Amino acid sequence: MHIRPFRPDDLPRLKEITVEAFTGVSIDQGIEKQFGPIAGHDWRWRKARHLDEDTLTDPHGIFVAEIADRVVGYVSTWIDHETGIGHIPNLALVPECRGQGLGRQLLLHAFDHFHRAGITHAKIETLVQNEVGKHLYESLGFREVARQIHFVADLRDDSSAAG
Ligand SMILES: CC(C)(COP(=O)(O)OP(=O)(O)OC[C@H]1O[C@@H](n2cnc3c(N)ncnc32)[C@H](O)[C@@H]1OP(=O)(O)O)[C@@H](O)C(=O)NCCC(=O)NCCS
Repeated sequence: MHIRPFRPDDLPRLKEITVEAFTGVSIDQGIEKQFGPIAGHDWRWRKARHLDEDTLTDPHGIFVAEIADRVVGYVSTWIDHETGIGHIPNLALVPECRGQGLGRQLLLHAFDHFHRAGITHAKIETLVQNEVGKHLYESLGFREVARQIHFVADLRDDSSAAG
């Protein structure tokens, strides 16, 4: 596997990989299970948008994994220099490339990027049901620091009305 910097023309492929990879491990899909599509958009559309956010936040913090010139995955990062924390918002591989240590290599690449920038701590989030993520992150030194609950309300419901 070869890891290289992101190019703008990678975006459609990275979105495709993201939408496939996050099936079953996506907050957006969890929202859709309870509320259906919102504003005419399904969870895949919303999840793919995270890549737009990543590219706007720091296109130079996205690293693309290639095998034989085929894009097979990526890791996205951004650095908050003031807090000293490097963030890893998204990480995904095509199914046939999982379980071979490539996710670990992408994360180590992100760590190198943070080291080079003088960053001392890295932060990543995962859903409770993501057993692979949990195992992989802990094996790389990440420690669980908190659990968060995501709530969504349908504001058209009477029960959500303020008065
Ligand atoms: C998460 C992801 C990027 C990891 O990449 P990967 O190449 O599969 O990961 P690696 O092969 O480097 O490491 C996986 C580790 O999980 C372990 N693992 C595999 N299945 C597991 C399971 N069901 N439960 C616990 N651990 C598991 C593997 O043994 C390996 O650990 P080891 O190196 O100690 O043996 C990839 O699986 C993926 O794209 N998943 C879907 C998208 C996703 O979940 N993204 C992250 C969201 S936070």
